[in-house]
Amino acid sequence: MDGVILRSTYRRRLDAGSDTTWFGTFDLELDRKPGTSGACDATDLPRGSRLALWCAMQLEPSDASGVRVVERLAGHLVLEPIDGGPPPSWPWMIEGLRSRFPARHSNDGPEAAWLILPDGSTVIVDVEPSRAAEPPRSALADSTAAPHDHASVVPVTPHPRQVELRSTAVRHRRARLAVSTTAIADVWSSVAGLGQRSGWDVLDTLGVDSDATPATLAIVAELSEEAYDLDIADGAITIRAGGDRGIRHALVTLGQLLAVEAGAPELSVSDKPQVAFRGIHLDLARRWFEPDVVERMIDIAAWRKLSHVHLHLTDDEAWRFHVDAYPTLASIGGTRGHGLALAPSCGSGPAPYGRAYTNGEIGRWVQRADALGITLVPEVDVPGHCHAALVSVPELRDPDDASTVSSVQGYPNNVLVPGRPITMTFLEAVFATLADLFPSSPTLHIGGDEVPFGSWEGSPDTRAYAAARGLVSTSQIETAFHRELIQMISTTTGRDVAMWEEAALAGVEPSGYAVAWTSADAGVRLARAGHRVVMAPGQTNYLDMAPGRAWELPGGSWAGNVTLADTCTFDPTAGWDDDLAGLLHGVQACIWGEHIADLDILDTLTFPRLDAIAERAWTGRIVGGPEALAERSAGLPRFTT
Ligand code: ACM
Repeated sequence: MDGVILRSTYRRRLDAGSDTTWFGTFDLELDRKPGTSGACDATDLPRGSRLALWCAMQLEPSDASGVRVVERLAGHLVLEPIDGGPPPSWPWMIEGLRSRFPARHSNDGPEAAWLILPDGSTVIVDVEPSRAAEPPRSALADSTAAPHDHASVVPVTPHPRQVELRSTAVRHRRARLAVSTTAIADVWSSVAGLGQRSGWDVLDTLGVDSDATPATLAIVAELSEEAYDLDIADGAITIRAGGDRGIRHALVTLGQLLAVEAGAPELSVSDKPQVAFRGIHLDLARRWFEPDVVERMIDIAAWRKLSHVHLHLTDDEAWRFHVDAYPTLASIGGTRGHGLALAPSCGSGPAPYGRAYTNGEIGRWVQRADALGITLVPEVDVPGHCHAALVSVPELRDPDDASTVSSVQGYPNNVLVPGRPITMTFLEAVFATLADLFPSSPTLHIGGDEVPFGSWEGSPDTRAYAAARGLVSTSQIETAFHRELIQMISTTTGRDVAMWEEAALAGVEPSGYAVAWTSADAGVRLARAGHRVVMAPGQTNYLDMAPGRAWELPGGSWAGNVTLADTCTFDPTAGWDDDLAGLLHGVQACIWGEHIADLDILDTLTFPRLDAIAERAWTGRIVGGPEALAERSAGLPRFTT
């Protein structure tokens, strides 16, 4: 059987007896595709057939739905007719599936679906974009654009802090390296390679282009590591920088100026970043991205003068690297599918989906990042978000654990178990591997977000651990666990440790930094607690949030819609007392995978908002306002994989 299609419609409904409490339901219609030959009768779906689907909103049948849940894990659901009879004749209508969260965008509806026939075989169902029965109401109106500031704007993003345009009489189209050291020549060729991958071959690497303007580069003591001065005169380009990073930034600026059709005019630039940490985070667990997508993201970051790429390598839905001592992390935890230990999730269907990256693939990310002066921050998220690890290495579970909590994403008991002897042995192997795989990363990220309240309440192993230390609450247990973990990582790898805000707000001291993500206010609280803070509040910096209110736009909405104006106007230290300003370590954009169904959606969600975040972090403002930023962003190359 083939040619089956799933249509879904979202309806907002008022709770019975209330005129203020709204909830939402999805109605599903499963039907033969138009044009499919054959009788549309119930015999095509024999008794015992089931419908499996994934929906980020975590659906729950109501009495009216006519189905019951056979299997559920987070957004993954398997349904069958309530009376055990055959599914009704086509179309199979399943109405009133209650949505755990309000839906605001089409991609909040079912994304993947398939039929499971009584013989265990599966039939892929085509899923149409979900419709809204009425325009969804958003608590947040789209922000209006910030005013245009009429500054003199050059086509460079992030825009340099100071530009003096001298003359447009002479236009430069290419540059060649005239005077330098070998070290500078290496930096030149890595940025020239970046330019070539972008499609902009404007930095001559072979020294054969005699028409190219000669460039002289020098490292000078009076500038800080990332600062640079760039002077483009009639017959010469002069770059002075504080260090290799400054040289790279100068060459990226030069590359962007040379690449415009008219060529670069005569001008002087004096530039340096506003904050040292300018990051982009990519979730590699929810979706499978080919390894070159990460290399491309490193290129994208370098082209925007970002400093860090944070790689979220593990989560409930997958484990993405090999650990020799625990081979099943990769062999089981890397791949989801129908009938596999890891159920389909986040839009993947019944076929095996995803894998762990090989050491060689990760090595190529490190090489690319090192060449471009980008620091990678690899993350293993613990103790929560560990469903894939727990399924892959079942000994990690406390077999007598009677805890019944679930994570906000719907994973039951998805936490590592403090007090279980294997837990620290496992983590030693994991973080030693991570340190080996990422030799140039000074900081390892330990996650620490969203540990469900009440975790471990039914675990004898953790109860004994807590009793021996006088710990009572989930948060106290988590804090003790994280402190031991940080101590172990410091002793065994010598690396610093970063974490999401919850861990630091619970009292753990990150040796690196803490990332504020639930709100800007969380950043203020982290700074008041004395932590170095990276600001990534969901309301402005989560690029997986939909960029506007329209139902058709891709992305999530738990933090509201994040418009370009929102990212442009976000001031990371608004509300900070003056004496805390030194604790602002940096700014980060985050891209989570739940809604990234393909690379076009990744790009739609990334640009131009990433450019706004990069410019706020580098320049401290959006030069020319959001419209000018968007125009400059549109002129930047997208890079291909
Ligand atoms: C997060 O978004 N859970 C860090």
